[in-house]
Amino acid sequence: MIPREIVEEIIHRNDIEEVISSYVTLKRAGSNFSGLCPFHSEKTPSFTVFSSSKNFYCFGCGAGGDVITFIMKAENLDYPSALEFLARRAGITIPKNGQAEERGISRTRIYEMNLAAAKFFRQCLFDPAHGAEALDYLANKRRLSGAVIKHFGLGYSPNDFGMLTSHMKRLGFTDEELMVGFLCGKSQKNGRLYDYFRNRVMFPIIDVSGNIIAFGGRVMDDSKPKYLNTSDTPGFKKSKNLFALNYAKKNCADRLILCEGYMDVIALHAVGFENAVATLGTAITPEQARLISKYTKSVLISYDMDEAGRRAADKAMKLLSDVEVDVKVLRMNGAKDPDEYIKTFGADKFRQLIGKSQSGFEYKLDSVLSKYDTNIPEDKIKAAAELCKIIAAVYSGVERSVYIATVADKLGLTADVVKNDVDRIRAGLIRQYKAKEGQEARMEARNIGDRINPDAAKNVMAASAEEAILGLMLLYDDMRSRVVKGGSKLTADDFYTDFGRRVFEAITELEASEGGFMYSLLGERFTTDEMGRIQSMEQKRRQLSTNSADVLDSCIMTLKAAKDKENEENDWRVALAKKQEQLKKKKENKN
Ligand code: CTP
Ligand code: MN
Repeated sequence: MIPREIVEEIIHRNDIEEVISSYVTLKRAGSNFSGLCPFHSEKTPSFTVFSSSKNFYCFGCGAGGDVITFIMKAENLDYPSALEFLARRAGITIPKNGQAEERGISRTRIYEMNLAAAKFFRQCLFDPAHGAEALDYLANKRRLSGAVIKHFGLGYSPNDFGMLTSHMKRLGFTDEELMVGFLCGKSQKNGRLYDYFRNRVMFPIIDVSGNIIAFGGRVMDDSKPKYLNTSDTPGFKKSKNLFALNYAKKNCADRLILCEGYMDVIALHAVGFENAVATLGTAITPEQARLISKYTKSVLISYDMDEAGRRAADKAMKLLSDVEVDVKVLRMNGAKDPDEYIKTFGADKFRQLIGKSQSGFEYKLDSVLSKYDTNIPEDKIKAAAELCKIIAAVYSGVERSVYIATVADKLGLTADVVKNDVDRIRAGLIRQYKAKEGQEARMEARNIGDRINPDAAKNVMAASAEEAILGLMLLYDDMRSRVVKGGSKLTADDFYTDFGRRVFEAITELEASEGGFMYSLLGERFTTDEMGRIQSMEQKRRQLSTNSADVLDSCIMTLKAAKDKENEENDWRVALAKKQEQLKKKKENKN
């Protein structure tokens, strides 16, 4: 546990507006600040930073908390690591006691370690005693120049179980650090460390700030697995980064080229397309899409020309248009991926191909048409049905009518006929959407599907009384202290939902502790989602003008009554069941 004074110091020295400003463009709104929420996609700002309470809350997605919660969410860190992050930002040193050391290894340490390892891998690549074959592979088989190899910091992990381990230990890295950083594994048999990457060409993965966050290592023949990658470590979340974005970010304002593989990106950069990045094999994630949208308005998807690549392209199109990035798709003939295409046909041909790249719709049109022989009536009907479905989902009426004309032309139908089908499907989609929206609203009203507080649906009255009580206790020091001192005769047992009880217990425990209640210390006990819900309770009360002690008392009464009523009902049900049982027995006896 980090001492309370240090947490106070960290909060004090990290102004929430200033910290959040480096993630979100904030505009003044009255006494608060607002901006576009970094945790969900939105077009109008519902994310608010409250200057007086030093909290944030998004009225759109329910994310909320203090500056620590914000960093936990934005940087994907746990509570102690977020504190460490903020401490470092403000130049505060967190005193090391045994527990803190045991807990984790800082990101900076991981970056230091990766940098040292990358240097080692590079030395090995250029050392003829170890890296001759690897250098031959990169320079001759993959035709990379010395300059490109150095630009990307490529290296070679020698065919040995201990060279990296002993090198790193000489530099002072501990067993624990090497394992957490995923550079070494521990032998089950003798408990000794061994090098994780062996006999592979090494690709360092560098984030936009220039830190080496991970490695990918490729075999030089056809053995499996082709790539070995660093697993998620404190420094590296795969879903949040893109290979070569550190270089591409300066060249991609107009257009970014999105590929699947390291080798595609390197081949593209080598011939001047320095706006290429790769998703690291995995299909693109919403986080990556959002990251991309920070740097560019337009993406050219250049995935492999196989079924997996096509499916990944479909997904990327959807996620990128969600963040309002314009998408085009590249089609290659005669090569499976951009690397092979450039090797076979050259950079100029690739540039021409970019000129011919298709809009998302053209791409979908082609992939549907390529599945069918439209001279056969059944096929033509199937193709038309699929295409009408695609067009029906397009939001803009102008775009829809342009696509309708294209499809009619391709299939030899009149535009009217196509339009009729599109309109019919679209009407159905809208009906479905409205029904779903209505259902969601109803569920919300009844708290069904509430993952954070699942008990709430079972007794809505009790749950909302709880929320009001907790909101008031968070917002007003005097009400909190009265409840905790027993002045309101409210105890944890009075709470109906498990979540409500946990929040109540946390607040009362902190209030009764030596230093008194401190909002930021809640972060240690609750997840960021739960912190959002706690913040929402506070915000709901803040927006009401009637927040007197009377309100608190009447909410407490409501809660107790709602629980009593339920107990009564349960008693009544039990009684009824007994009665029925007796009647049944009587009948049986008669017979
Ligand atoms: N990948 C991976 N693990 C594998 C296979 C692939 O992590 N076993 C990831 C790598 O990031 C790789 C990307 O998926 O770069 C694309 O895979 P693939 O097309 O097979 O690799 P290339 O990088 O194109 O490699 P090459 O050209 O050498 O075949
Ligand atoms: Mn490939």
